[in-house]
Amino acid sequence: MRTLTGIQPSGQLHIGNYFGAMRPAIDAQTRGECFYFVADYHSMTSLLDPAERRANTLSVAIDWLACGLDPARSVFWRQSDVPEVTELTWIIGTLTPMGLLERAHSYKDKTAKGISPNFGLFAYPVLMAADILLYDTNVVPVGRDQKQHLEMTRDIAIKFNQTYGETFVVPEPDIREDIAVVPGLDGLKMSKSYGNTIDIFGEEKATRKKIMGIMMDSRTPAEPKPDADQNLAIQLLKLVAPPDIAADYENRLRAGGLGYGDLKKTLFEHYWNYFSAARARRSELLANLDYVNKVLSEGAERARGVAASVLKRARKACGLE
Ligand code: TRP
Repeated sequence: MRTLTGIQPSGQLHIGNYFGAMRPAIDAQTRGECFYFVADYHSMTSLLDPAERRANTLSVAIDWLACGLDPARSVFWRQSDVPEVTELTWIIGTLTPMGLLERAHSYKDKTAKGISPNFGLFAYPVLMAADILLYDTNVVPVGRDQKQHLEMTRDIAIKFNQTYGETFVVPEPDIREDIAVVPGLDGLKMSKSYGNTIDIFGEEKATRKKIMGIMMDSRTPAEPKPDADQNLAIQLLKLVAPPDIAADYENRLRAGGLGYGDLKKTLFEHYWNYFSAARARRSELLANLDYVNKVLSEGAERARGVAASVLKRARKACGLE
């Protein structure tokens, strides 16, 4: 069973990314074959700075490796190192109805925000479908926001198979409904666009300050707090502290007598500790970029092996060979 997912090279990763997408993807490595790539072609629809794209692609790769992506177990590459995906994008694009693309939420949301659409933005779901179909993918773990893109991928695969004969594996989505939305500093969903994030690899002082600034109410420490489970620091503590410690703090907050300052200090310490091994691995990787580039190029070699044979199958099916 092959699992595949694309990672947006969006710069600094935060703990919402970690608990929502990275940790499940890293855990999946023990259960089957994993194909993970950094989606630098996709980033072109929103980012026009080449140096920034290069830097973000590398830093996202480093952060995933630091957090436990294991190149001995997974195939990990930079999307654009396997340009075969763009040929497949064209091939399946000719079977993708305009209406399907016009109904895409992400496209509609962006144009509604006033972004003037280009062909790349419109074709984004076709490139994503090509990413998936090019590797005979069985399962795609994605957030709810990507569910429609997966449905489009399935529609395209089915249509191709009907038109040209059995060629593509029709992938199954693995939509993670159960994963808690990680709250940000202000209680809204943690998101870069809200500026309410706690970065995985934030600088110590700045992160301590951010955590100490998490929004609380004005009740005194002595007051019992029957809604302790709703407290933002408690919710975050549950992610980074051992369960018995988090439960103890929650009980103390509920009973009254625990101040918000002390709670946040504890949260910072557990956060810092939780990522300390990853932080150490990350410094090693930063000092050894040749190794990182070697991982990505070896990953691209392995990915290309699969891509070349699937693309050949597709080209034959539709009479290009
Ligand atoms: N569109 C995905 C996102 O925004 C990233 C992505 C690109 C992807 N290609 C993919 C995800 C293929 C899964 C499979 O997060």
